[in-house]
Amino acid sequence: MALNRTPLIAGNWKLNLDHLQAIAFVQKLAWSLGDAKHDFAGVEVAVFPPFTDLRSVQTLVASDKLPIAFGAQDLSAHDSGAYTGEISGAFLAKLECSYVIIGHSERRTLHNETDEVVAAKVQAALRHSLVPIICVGETAEDLETHGPSAVPVAQLRAALAGVNSAADIVVAYEPVWAIGSGQAATPDQAEQVAAALRAVLVELLGDDVAAKTRILYGGSVKAANIAGFMREPNVDGALVGGASLDLDEFASIARFKQHVGL
Ligand code: 13P
Repeated sequence: MALNRTPLIAGNWKLNLDHLQAIAFVQKLAWSLGDAKHDFAGVEVAVFPPFTDLRSVQTLVASDKLPIAFGAQDLSAHDSGAYTGEISGAFLAKLECSYVIIGHSERRTLHNETDEVVAAKVQAALRHSLVPIICVGETAEDLETHGPSAVPVAQLRAALAGVNSAADIVVAYEPVWAIGSGQAATPDQAEQVAAALRAVLVELLGDDVAAKTRILYGGSVKAANIAGFMREPNVDGALVGGASLDLDEFASIARFKQHVGL
């Protein structure tokens, strides 16, 4: 965590919580963090519900002026047209989404999203002023064959094809072997890859963008291990899956500064 970057704690709900559950969850999350005097300006908190929840979350956040950001888990590479089942960046922008997750490993593996598709989706997000959270990460097999940074670095290079240096982006390093496995990377491992990803940002987008871009770690993040990641200079937050569905656990992750040593 570097002082010039605001940490981001992001909850990727995946295929969980319907719109009624989403309203209850976001309301309780805001109350719980508010009661704990969470410094929302110091540590940004964001949730990523399913598409069908977004309108409800938007309405709640706007009407109650909740200091919680939100975004979608995916978007179409296209803006409109004959693309049955797709959701455009324009629609997400209308719903006041700040962010959109792009290239999550579950989309890459279960929905055959290639690096080219990911790059097109990054362009679509930027066209609509959504901040893309670009996910990269290696499988256990990649790790054995290519070492820790090669695949995430190649994925980031591909995702940034055509992105210019004015872009506001977030990068999430999520080793596939750590997602949902209960076996997180070590803070050292996360830092090593995050530093390599930042070097790519320097090379492709310049020092200023690289210095302000947040790089998140994701993969079995919990309240018990978040502090270790946040002590690393190149890790600026977390993309949390399973633990983001447990209100107390997620609130405790967001309050990582209260944990020992930070
Ligand atoms: P878990 O936190 O459940 O390992 O999931 C991580 C993830 O995929 C977040 O996008």
